[in-house]
Amino acid sequence: MKPYVILISGQGSNMQALLEDQLPGQCRAVISNRPEASGLATAAAYGIPTKVIDHHAFASRDAFDMALADEIESYTPQLVLLAGFMRILSDAFVARFSGRMLNIHPSLLPAFPGIKTHAQALAASVKTHGCTVHFVTPALDGGPIIAQAAVPVLPDDTEESLAARVLAEEHRLYPRVARWFLTGQVHLIDGRVKCTAPLASLESAI
Ligand code: GAR
Repeated sequence: MKPYVILISGQGSNMQALLEDQLPGQCRAVISNRPEASGLATAAAYGIPTKVIDHHAFASRDAFDMALADEIESYTPQLVLLAGFMRILSDAFVARFSGRMLNIHPSLLPAFPGIKTHAQALAASVKTHGCTVHFVTPALDGGPIIAQAAVPVLPDDTEESLAARVLAEEHRLYPRVARWFLTGQVHLIDGRVKCTAPLASLESAI
């Protein structure tokens, strides 16, 4: 069973979707940078060890990143899953986990990187929105894309209704991609995604 670690900052609904999926791996820890993250209690209810590395306790981003990376490494994970982890990570941190760290982002990248993606999508009047799972590289939300799921933007959508539609797709997409990685069906080779999983099997909500 390949060991993996999940990083969260908030409610952890993507984390829960990953834990529910009974992936072919062992979740060794859920780590949050925020002590008040409600996902910590959810993880504990699943019997997963939890750890808080509070970024407020560190004098610099580099010091926080170093402590976080050391904590992650202590679990010797083959995969690190960012699941609503809302911290920008330094190049040195990202380099330590190159090719074994994934993120889920609530937009169809490269559209709408950063925060408030659903507001950005509504402001741009796009008709299709969605989510992306990608390898993490130093480029913010710019790493090689593994898979995406799309949803329609409806005429009366609010940020909240659109976010809920996208989040439901996130919960389907992320466990699938994590499973591909843990079963050796997706790799990062020379900066490019090599995926042998049946991408065509991903149904879209469109
Ligand atoms: C999710 O929509 C996730 O894609 C997003 O935060 C939310 C966390 O929800 N992540 C980012 O915006 C990362 N840049 P969750 O805590 O319920 O999984």
